[in-house]
Amino acid sequence: MDQVYLNGSFLPRSEAQIPIMDRGFLFGDGVYELIPVFNKKVFLLEEHLKRLKNSLNLIQMNDVKGLDKIISTLIKKNTKNTFFIYLHISRGVQSSRNHIYSEHIEPTVLLMCEDYPAFSEDLIKKGFQATMQDDFRWMKSNIKSISLLGNVLLKNYASSNGCYETLLIRNKKLTEGSTSNVFIVKDEIIYTPKLSNELLPGVTRGLLIKLLNENHLKVIESDIYESDVVNADEVWCSSSTNAVVPIIKVDDNIVNNGRVGNITMKVHKIAQDFIINF
Ligand code: PDD
Repeated sequence: MDQVYLNGSFLPRSEAQIPIMDRGFLFGDGVYELIPVFNKKVFLLEEHLKRLKNSLNLIQMNDVKGLDKIISTLIKKNTKNTFFIYLHISRGVQSSRNHIYSEHIEPTVLLMCEDYPAFSEDLIKKGFQATMQDDFRWMKSNIKSISLLGNVLLKNYASSNGCYETLLIRNKKLTEGSTSNVFIVKDEIIYTPKLSNELLPGVTRGLLIKLLNENHLKVIESDIYESDVVNADEVWCSSSTNAVVPIIKVDDNIVNNGRVGNITMKVHKIAQDFIINF
């Protein structure tokens, strides 16, 4: 059976336990990363560890050393070739339930492997539906926090309405999706919301911007209004799980006559080629 890593030991998942006084359990006090592994090779590890360090720093936690070594051991111990590493760091176990954290506790460090839920090429070609909702989450969505209740409710709203994703609007502007970043196309120019405290700096978002520039596709990071989404020629969502997820309907608005657009398909192909060859 595949092993997980918990606080210094590798052990079977069913044996890994966390005390009830863990601040991650009690307060959602911690951060995480989801790192793809393709054919036993970690994808964009440096970028994920850099974001993790930033998330830790933003919640006043120290960087955790030696994660790259733990990751390579975990990959060796895993029987699968392509999967995800879920990396979770909570502030640790404290003797009493207190909002005020102790400076003297050790973080809880958990790494485990999860199946890779990639969409088939057929599904990508057909496209997906999305819905729009107010972004009612907190104002620090740039931290990859394990406190995901807002995202959980918003993602389930999508799923219970037959949609892949909920696109989030704050003050009339698009922030991101409940589990993804969002790109739109208008008149052959690609737009994505500029980075701020209101959205996660997606590793895939960063990769796509780099690949778009290299392929001479014009991409602009800017404010995107709700009306821009509704009137877009093409829309797609990006995340480590699926680099490009084409959206062909947003609530009652049909995008590109309900067909996946040419630019979206081109970017999907560019991303897939990069993943296959990295
Ligand atoms: N989430 N925005 C949010 C709110 C996300 O949860 C994610 C990814 C992204 C995309 O980030 P990246 O490209 O680095 O995966 C943007 C992962 C998949 C998750 O929580 O499972």
